Amino acid sequence: MKKIFLVASLLSAMTISAQTGASKITIHADQGKTQISKEIYGQFSEHLGSCIYGGIWVGENSPIPNIKGYRTDVFNAIKELKVPVLRWPGGCFADEYHWMDGVGPREKRPTISNNNWGGVIEDNSFGTNEFFNLCEMLDCEPYLSGNVGSGTVEELAKWVEYITSAGNSPMANLRRQNGREKPWKLKYLGVGNESWGCGGNMTAQFYSDVYKRYSTYCREYDGNKLFKIASGASDVDYNWTETLMKNIGNKMEGISLHYYTCKGWEGSKGSATKFDKNDYLWTISKTLEIDDMIKKHIAIMDKYDPKNKVALMVDEWGTWWDQEPGNHTALYQQNTLRDAFVAALNLNIFNKYAERVKMTNIAQVVNVLQAMILTEGPKMVLTPTYHVFNMYKVHMGATYLPLEVTSDSLTYNKTKFPIVNASASKDSKGLIHITLTNVDLDKDQKVTIDLPNVKITKVEGKILTAKTIDSHNTFENPNVVVPAVFKDAKITKTGLTVNVPAKSIISLEL
Ligand code: AHR
Repeated sequence: MKKIFLVASLLSAMTISAQTGASKITIHADQGKTQISKEIYGQFSEHLGSCIYGGIWVGENSPIPNIKGYRTDVFNAIKELKVPVLRWPGGCFADEYHWMDGVGPREKRPTISNNNWGGVIEDNSFGTNEFFNLCEMLDCEPYLSGNVGSGTVEELAKWVEYITSAGNSPMANLRRQNGREKPWKLKYLGVGNESWGCGGNMTAQFYSDVYKRYSTYCREYDGNKLFKIASGASDVDYNWTETLMKNIGNKMEGISLHYYTCKGWEGSKGSATKFDKNDYLWTISKTLEIDDMIKKHIAIMDKYDPKNKVALMVDEWGTWWDQEPGNHTALYQQNTLRDAFVAALNLNIFNKYAERVKMTNIAQVVNVLQAMILTEGPKMVLTPTYHVFNMYKVHMGATYLPLEVTSDSLTYNKTKFPIVNASASKDSKGLIHITLTNVDLDKDQKVTIDLPNVKITKVEGKILTAKTIDSHNTFENPNVVVPAVFKDAKITKTGLTVNVPAKSIISLEL
């Protein structure tokens, strides 16, 4: 009885519409006016599971090869991505983090319990100096998440002073005592995280005042300019955005948004590697919901900020599956070609809203949720999501090119979505970059790309695909899902024709 119901519900959830196998994209290369902020390709690192400890930081005395305590393999892999911004120390951890615990001689730092993430022991060996030095070495912007939930205004004010003051001030002197003469640069400052939840369970109205109080005392020392980000909504909480826009307005430079491709907060979220076609279509359809959500949050922002002064920062996004079975640290999950699609679709959407969306941070960089990199002791493997970021990094700082896509569609639970999804940009050298996905698991798409007024002389491409949608890289087989050279794009009189194989992600450079 149960079985029959399951089959029936699967059939009603998933419909495949008539397929032509052909799609058309028109790219308006002469109409680009918005720069894709490079921070859209940002990352997030929290004191959670083995993201920091074991993932990024092993300490100078570790047998795992390291550069001043940062594991060499992970450092080099992140560097290759040209990560523009790294968010730290949380997440939920941030609102219980007292930065003074993490400065000074390591052997004297207190050991605390990480209450948000399983009560594991946190020895504070990775703290402010370790994080800011890492960002300098990576040449990326640090994005600091301040403790508003359980901290004090004074504590956050002093943290900003410790990091950025060049003067003869108590916190600048403490920094010097801890071995760092020059201040670091701090631009992005998050004033709380998920203040509606783990960050203090506040109402939007109450948080608006708390934000103003905290941010008043975060001073700009010695020419350092802060870009303050208010803790924003989750998903479709438009009231949160509305209340903050109304009450805080341009006393903030950015407002955040969190959206996970997640089945729900209670119970099973599904396996990262064992899923069927129905789960896959759910994933794609759930991911694409962010498009409309961003549009609606932006519409509210436009109402209060028609001059587009406040940016939308999607500072947490990605897939959230069940923790991998076995002896793994919190929120450690595998990453398949399905996750690669989630990354590719999200990045295409973020590019589209580049006028308002100025930063996004996938959760998280190593060993947590939709990670770029997985580690186990000395072993390291790059995930399919890593490869998407590497293929898409060409869009960073380029000019967004408006485009229209006409394609076949798939339907999940009465929601129709296109099989082909794309984004295009023009970089400072005049090269045009196109990223394309075909989410159909079975059918290739013949894509005609029109580029009015563009003379194409050369096209080069890369493709990310695999035998099956659940394909993934392991420590034993790290090259199951890796990019390959793509040659099936032909120059035509009006642009290109591209044969996009089923379940593939393609990047083209013209
Ligand atoms: O990324 C994991 C957690 O998800 C973060 O700590 C929190 O902000 C969100 O709920």
